[in-house]
Amino acid sequence: MPQHSVTMKRMRAKSAKPSPRKKKAVSKFPALSPALKRRFQQRLLKWYGEHGRDLPWRKTADPYHILVSEVMLQQTQVDRVIPKYHEFLDRYPSFEHLADAPVADVKKTWYPLGYNIRPERLHSIARETVERYGGQLPNDAEELLSFKGIGRYTAGAIRSFAFNEDAPILDTNVIRVLHRVFVAEGDPKTQKAQLWELSEALIPRGKGYDFNQAIMDFGAMVCTARDPYCLLCPMKSFCRTYPFDPQSRSRS
Ligand code: ADE
Repeated sequence: MPQHSVTMKRMRAKSAKPSPRKKKAVSKFPALSPALKRRFQQRLLKWYGEHGRDLPWRKTADPYHILVSEVMLQQTQVDRVIPKYHEFLDRYPSFEHLADAPVADVKKTWYPLGYNIRPERLHSIARETVERYGGQLPNDAEELLSFKGIGRYTAGAIRSFAFNEDAPILDTNVIRVLHRVFVAEGDPKTQKAQLWELSEALIPRGKGYDFNQAIMDFGAMVCTARDPYCLLCPMKSFCRTYPFDPQSRSRS
């Protein structure tokens, strides 16, 4: 083969577009250095110690209470959940009480929180807990995930808030905080696997409970979806999104 055609072949090979199947999703996810991790943990926990909210489900480690609060908090604001959380637990104080109640009554008690599939799911979890586990919610991730109505977030919340395990959580608040502080590019919706890993890697050993509660409060109170309080933010010296894009109407 003449030298010329070899060169042409190389050039063609270089300029050929990769087929869609071979195209590898290049991960631009930044590595987390131990120093950055420690700084984030320390600042978040300090902030939480000073500003964390005093919420009723933080005064209990009862798995049933935690589950009720977490199901209510899916899609509903904290302020609206608080009175309903008390009313619901007064009426159905345990898994057994809830399992024995007609689902129509449970839905009535739930009203007007909306999203009526949630009381049905909660009722079905209560029945399953009573039937399969004698009324005690398990702490094992696989077992929790086997319940219809318990997904990865809820399993992590139950494990960390009721069983004090260093289990990660990832909800919209946590996604927003982690993506802004550590990533700041791409669409967080397509980065869930890496964000779960980040959420897990950031938990200081033995402090899963406080860390998870803290990051949720931080997302709800500082790193808010609209108009985040960047100037007051303890992460601003290393946040990849700071200073916030002025288009986003940040308060900074
Ligand atoms: N949203 C979901 N779980 C929460 C919790 N434990 N505290 C505050 N907001 C929440």
